[in-house]
Amino acid sequence: MICDYEGSDYKTRFWKNSDRVYEDACERVALRRLLPPHGKRLADFGAGFGRLADLYAGYDEVILLDYSRSLLEEAQEHWGHDPRFRFVAADIYHLPFAGGVLEAATMVRVIHHIADVSRALGEIRRAIAPGSHLVLEFANKRNLKAVSRFALRRQDWSPFSLEPVEFATLNFDFHPRWMRRQLEANGFRLQRMLAVSYLRWSALKRSMPIKAMVYVDALLQLTSRLGVLSPSVFTLSENAVGMDDGQELSGDAIFRSPLSGLPLRRDGDTLVCDADGTRWHAQGAFYDFKEPM
Ligand SMILES: C[S@@+](CC[C@H](N)C(=O)[O-])C[C@H]1O[C@@H](n2cnc3c(N)ncnc32)[C@H](O)[C@@H]1O
Repeated sequence: MICDYEGSDYKTRFWKNSDRVYEDACERVALRRLLPPHGKRLADFGAGFGRLADLYAGYDEVILLDYSRSLLEEAQEHWGHDPRFRFVAADIYHLPFAGGVLEAATMVRVIHHIADVSRALGEIRRAIAPGSHLVLEFANKRNLKAVSRFALRRQDWSPFSLEPVEFATLNFDFHPRWMRRQLEANGFRLQRMLAVSYLRWSALKRSMPIKAMVYVDALLQLTSRLGVLSPSVFTLSENAVGMDDGQELSGDAIFRSPLSGLPLRRDGDTLVCDADGTRWHAQGAFYDFKEPM
């Protein structure tokens, strides 16, 4: 099951019309801290409308991948003029990449919609070159609010138990230790964790200047060794598996049929897989791997 954002007003409803300047700012601090600043090819998995795309300025190629074509079209309106960008409609469970073609990857505010975390991380790990990095953000079930609600018996699930909690359909919170195990089981080596958004309280947002909030958050992010109790956690992991020469591939050659994993050749505005018989729409910088034509 996929949490479908097709046609959603995510950008306006969630970011523009809501009071989330603080969250956006401290996520940027965390991403800047963790993401290697330069590189060849980066993919943002579940990029939505490309909210964080300006942080990828140091990369030669940027792939914004999302299941929602409409959000990607919004991203293209903003970033389409920049030849470094490609917009890829695809499902994280069936990625259209050859192995090891990415030098860096990010996934922010997405894995909380993913029911099969292991499968998604396995797909992403295969697309990343050995020794290259993934910055993954996840929603933390062991956060201060959940801990206090549980202590006051206002919440029936324990924030300390390891299994994910699905608090609404296809919306999961994860325990940091559980997420570490998932990363490691799928070939990643976890290198850093940042505790992000501790000050996510409406009362604070009303009373404290945003600059001060972000300053304090930036300090609190570095306290993760004392225990992570923030609502959001950013992680940096390295692909610890094997050798791969995918990074030598360029242009359309980085893509594979998401159905079979086999190579594609270009025919006008179509990518054709002769081996599995599928055809995929690929016009300009916009690639559609959601369903074959
Ligand atoms: C909450 S939005 C986050 C967007 C962006 N990362 C940000 O932080 O602004 C979640 C995004 O994940 C995408 N998504 C969810 N499940 C997906 C899947 N299986 N494959 C690809 N994208 C997916 C949605 O389409 C949506 O754009």
